[in-house]
Amino acid sequence: MTQPVPMPTTEQVELAVPTGVFSQTVVSVEHYTDRLFKFRIERPASFRFRAGEFVMIGLPSADKPIYRAYSIASASWDDEIEFYSIKVPNGPLTSKLQAIQPGDKIWMRAKPTGTLVTDALLPGKRLFMIATGTGIAPFGSLVREPDVYDRFDSVILTNTCRDLAELSYGNALANDIADDPLVGEQAATQLRYYPTTTRETSARMGRMTQLIDDGTFFKDLNLGALDPETDRVMICGSLDMNLDIKQRIEAAGLHEGSNARPGQFVIERAFVG
Ligand code: A2P
Repeated sequence: MTQPVPMPTTEQVELAVPTGVFSQTVVSVEHYTDRLFKFRIERPASFRFRAGEFVMIGLPSADKPIYRAYSIASASWDDEIEFYSIKVPNGPLTSKLQAIQPGDKIWMRAKPTGTLVTDALLPGKRLFMIATGTGIAPFGSLVREPDVYDRFDSVILTNTCRDLAELSYGNALANDIADDPLVGEQAATQLRYYPTTTRETSARMGRMTQLIDDGTFFKDLNLGALDPETDRVMICGSLDMNLDIKQRIEAAGLHEGSNARPGQFVIERAFVG
């Protein structure tokens, strides 16, 4: 006589987590606009990263999961991990990811990486962080890193978005940093924030390319022109923005750095799709 087949328990029907992947619970989700949201997940106890790095994340799937590179936006000491994401209606990952709720699982590959790190920069005096859109994310981690303020006398964070609503994430970051237990005091004297919009009227308007070209950026902040001896630059935004800013930075005499060979500027492409 054949034995009855036992009913699967909840554990048995849960998807097997692939090797080298953490399955982490979503702690909170906040939607800013119909194009932008942030979410936080529990941090695996053994997970370490350097401020500015990205990690591959995806949704649990029995088939081949789709992973995308996401910069970590939270501090390297935080017990949660924060991501800031665009929502692309037909995007292979974000069309589904935008519906996540607290309690859901996110799959995260165990190895963070990236070049938007202070290790890839030579010592300097001024550090410029140039961000557009979700490219502000890695700077969320970097401006909370004490090492950044120890290495540089001043840090200038720029944030360019289409409209004011899209600046919200960066504005909150710049406002909240004063209360940061580790870097609040240093940030108060060393960090400057320069938000601009390109499509909605605001106090400061224009693409950074234009604001650099016509000198407005340096004039607004009462800064001298770029100097390869003392200035370092981190760039994170769309491919076009990255290339256009890179062209200007190189024209000023700065050379690109990497983890293996630190230099005067580094670039990371903000995630899209
Ligand atoms: P614009 O509104 O003139 O396109 P997006 O939301 O498309 O990722 O863009 C984010 C911000 O980056 C927008 O304000 C956009 O300006 C700006 N931007 C796009 N391309 C460039 C570029 N090549 N150089 C500088 N800024 C750019």
